[in-house]
Amino acid sequence: MQAGRSTPSRRTGEVATVPRSRPSDRLRSAEEGGLSEAHRVEAVDVQSANQPARAKRLRSLSTALTIADLKARARRRVPKMFFDYADSGAWTEGTYRANEADFAAIKLRQRVLVDMTGRSLQSEMIGERVAMPVAIAPTGMTGMQHADGEMLGARAAEAFGVPFTLSTMSICSIEDVASVTKRPFWFQLYVMRDRDFVRNLIGRAKAAGCSALVLTLDLQILGQRHKDLRNGLSAPPKWTPKHAWQVATRPLWAMEMLGTKRRSFGNIVGHAKNVSDLSSLSSWTAEQFDPKLSWDDVAWIKREWGGKLILKGILDSEDARAAADTGADAIIVSNHGGRQLDGARSSISMLPRIVDAVGDRIEVHLDGGIRSGQDVLKALALGAKGTYIGRPFLYGLGAGGQDGVTRALEIIRTELDVTMALCGRRDVRDIDRSILDEG
Ligand SMILES: Cc1cc2nc3c(=O)[nH]c(=O)nc-3n(C[C@H](O)[C@H](O)[C@H](O)COP(=O)(O)O)c2cc1C
Repeated sequence: MQAGRSTPSRRTGEVATVPRSRPSDRLRSAEEGGLSEAHRVEAVDVQSANQPARAKRLRSLSTALTIADLKARARRRVPKMFFDYADSGAWTEGTYRANEADFAAIKLRQRVLVDMTGRSLQSEMIGERVAMPVAIAPTGMTGMQHADGEMLGARAAEAFGVPFTLSTMSICSIEDVASVTKRPFWFQLYVMRDRDFVRNLIGRAKAAGCSALVLTLDLQILGQRHKDLRNGLSAPPKWTPKHAWQVATRPLWAMEMLGTKRRSFGNIVGHAKNVSDLSSLSSWTAEQFDPKLSWDDVAWIKREWGGKLILKGILDSEDARAAADTGADAIIVSNHGGRQLDGARSSISMLPRIVDAVGDRIEVHLDGGIRSGQDVLKALALGAKGTYIGRPFLYGLGAGGQDGVTRALEIIRTELDVTMALCGRRDVRDIDRSILDEG
């Protein structure tokens, strides 16, 4: 991993519906642009400085034993439109459900009288040491699940020793996250038609010391998510009576959101040509995702970035072979958490054939449907070198900010460790198909 980085002073922010701006939004946006770096770091610190409240939150979080527990708490804390944004898939949500259900169908072999002492979960993803082979997946609008969500998530991941991936469509900017972390994080790139903007974004990720670029290939056109359309999702929320009610019934969320200035897309506003406020952002995003993205563009981005490259959104053996031909460092077997092509197979069901297709030409990672450490172990058994969590991270964040993300990681770590031991294994790097009961 890279040791240090420079933190640029300039700041600037998966969308379903982009916001329509009103004059007051524009005013807020202008205020955000005026914030100094010092103020921004302070806004995050205020949350952790409130010690009695934090002690209470930690006690309460310690009673959450599963990711489902965190999900239930997030549902109670996060306004419906943003909770639904996380807990949704495209169209019938069949692929979203299959991602989880197919993990549950995989059975493990119970082994006994095996020495279980000295177990290790440490591993490597793209050559970086990780405390366990689980990274935080890039998720858009994370700063709407909890104020300053990306900064808090990155801090929790850093303290835990796992990679954090920041989305292009984040609320906190690359520079915001760099300002509160020391460990290099990973940056996820959506390719826009405006290649100058893409070049600039890559430059900013380099300047911030990001140690890998995660290039998303499966969202050049947006899958239709009914919950988002019905909720009229936008960031910041619109002020219709329905939206105001959703916010008013989540007072803690609202108070924390009032304490930050980051309520828009921090990587975009102030950086993309002619996007200085929320109204111009709306039309910009609608036009900008490039539907002509090709393998030639992947080669261009690889050259432009010059560092470790991970290709995200591979679900087909032919595409996996083409991805290996690019010389990228890893692929992520993924269907975007069931948010894009509804009717596609689950990630875990496609993993074995993709691993067979690429052999050891490229490292294979997986995301989609991981809700426990057991799922992580099953993915490793079927040939993944690393995994990512999207919703478990968001539920932890919504339930309890940075401490909630830490709790999500702890839950997964404990389940991974205990399950590995009961399968008779001591080192996560030695996990293979022999731990599975394949009937
Ligand atoms: C709310 C939400 C927003 C997402 N935004 C992005 C994004 O901006 N970029 C991206 O590459 N993937 C995005 N994803 C997909 C995740 O990176 C990941 O593929 C998916 O969440 C994995 O499935 P899981 O949520 O079941 O773990 C998003 C997923 C969710 C749930």
